[in-house]
Amino acid sequence: MRTNANKAASEWHTISAMSPDERKQRYEETLSELASVLAGIEDSITAMATSCAVLYERIPAASWVGFYRVVGPRLLRIGPYQGGVGCLEIPFDRGVCGAAARERQTQLVSDVHAFPGHIACDAAARSEVVVPVSEPGGSLVAVLDVDSHELAAFGEIDREFLEKAVELIRPHLKSNTSAWLL
Ligand code: SME
Repeated sequence: MRTNANKAASEWHTISAMSPDERKQRYEETLSELASVLAGIEDSITAMATSCAVLYERIPAASWVGFYRVVGPRLLRIGPYQGGVGCLEIPFDRGVCGAAARERQTQLVSDVHAFPGHIACDAAARSEVVVPVSEPGGSLVAVLDVDSHELAAFGEIDREFLEKAVELIRPHLKSNTSAWLL
C-alpha cells in the first residue's frame, strides 16, 4: 500500500505552490478522468473504489479519501477508501461526517481541532471536506470524506471540485444501494 509519505513526495503534493488557476486546471482534468473511468460502471462498490483511487491520487493534500455508507437509521459505516485504517462506524450525531449526513450539506473544516465532536481516526488529521452523496432518487446513501494532514488544506475551489465529482459519481450508485437507504 502506498503511504502518505510516498504521496507527499509526488508531484501532486504541491498544493501551496499551485496557483488557483493551476489547481482548477488539474481538477478539470481529474473530472474528465473520473467520467472516463466510471463510464459503464453500474456496481456501486466498483464506482466508489475507483473514485477513491482517482481522488486520492489527484488531490494534492489528501491524506485519506473514502466513502462512509448509510447502513441504518442515522448510522454510517466505512466503505471503499484510500489511506490509513479509518473508523468503522460513525453515527450521524458524531464528527464531520455525521454533520454532513445530518445536514445533507458539504462540511468544509479548516481546523478539525476546532470542530466539536471531530473523530480523530488519524491523530495527524488537521482539515477536511465531507460531501453528502445522494442516489439518483434523492436518498442519502453515503458521504465522501477527504482528509488532510495540512491545516486549512481545502477551500472553495476544492469544495466546488468535490461537489462536481460527487455529481459524476452519483449515477453509478443507483444499483446495489437499497440496503443503505433509511
Ligand atoms: N474525519 C471524520 C472521521 C473519519 S476519518 O478521519 C477517516 C470525521 O470527523 O467525521
